[in-house]
Amino acid sequence: MSVVVVVHGGAWAIPDELAKASVDGVKAAARDGFAVLKRGGCALDAVEEAVKNMEDNIVFNAGHGATQNTDGEVELDAIIMDGSTLSSGAVSSVKNIANPVTLARAVMEKTNHMILTSRGANQFAESIGMTTVPTDSLVTEYERNEWEKHKTYVTGVREEFNTHWAHDTVGAVAVDSVGNVACATSTGGIRNKMVGRVGDAPIIGCGGYADNFSGAVSCTGHGESILKVTLARLILLHVEQGKSVAESSQWALQYMADRVHGAGGCIVVNRSGQWAATFTTKRMAWAAVDHDGLWYGLDPKERLNDSLSI
Ligand code: GLY
Repeated sequence: MSVVVVVHGGAWAIPDELAKASVDGVKAAARDGFAVLKRGGCALDAVEEAVKNMEDNIVFNAGHGATQNTDGEVELDAIIMDGSTLSSGAVSSVKNIANPVTLARAVMEKTNHMILTSRGANQFAESIGMTTVPTDSLVTEYERNEWEKHKTYVTGVREEFNTHWAHDTVGAVAVDSVGNVACATSTGGIRNKMVGRVGDAPIIGCGGYADNFSGAVSCTGHGESILKVTLARLILLHVEQGKSVAESSQWALQYMADRVHGAGGCIVVNRSGQWAATFTTKRMAWAAVDHDGLWYGLDPKERLNDSLSI
């Protein structure tokens, strides 16, 4: 069975000054996730590892580097899902947690629930001894400056996701050596969101979905649009109907653009190792590792290969 990991660092109009760091970041995360699979780890371990890597990288809007809400606070959302059992765990509006994806996995594995939010999620983190960090330490100077510049701006859809104003989400999908698929998605949400706003990322079928029968998806882009079309599940519906993972992604993103004027992106893998990285924003940093090496891109139609650096 061919093992594959695909990651994204968010679909938006990534400015040139963040381009190299974004591409380097997704390449490192994909290599990290793939190393887990090479060691015999499962798809779930691989996507958690890859997303943690990007949560720790300040260039991305997740964990360290997250955007701030209208009150200048960080509120983080994440999901993880196991395609072999359809188990998933998610957290929303958590503070003080550097790796929300690991907390989401704990919700999946240690509770009878699927989503914990806000204070309850933080209390649960405390109860299982998860390390907390001062929320302020998650905010970078770049984000503080961007927030100051844009704090009177109202969040929009396609147009804003194609300006430098948006800053979005990380995610990973993987298939392991026994053909199980998994997905994970993590985000600080959209800059200047209302306090308590929950986006697509922690909502099953929207920010991510994984089912061995069809594949695994992680989405990025304007959360309210993704929620309206249940983007991750919509993509897999088309895979189930016989389209390739690439055609399904293109179809669903175009549907979201036509139907609700939403822009975004997605990564998909199925259990036979076919994968796609697709977006309707100006740019999306993505990387994949399969039997042919490390693939990556940033601009539309860009697909570079780096077989030596796995
Ligand atoms: N796609 C992330 C969000 O809208 O919150």
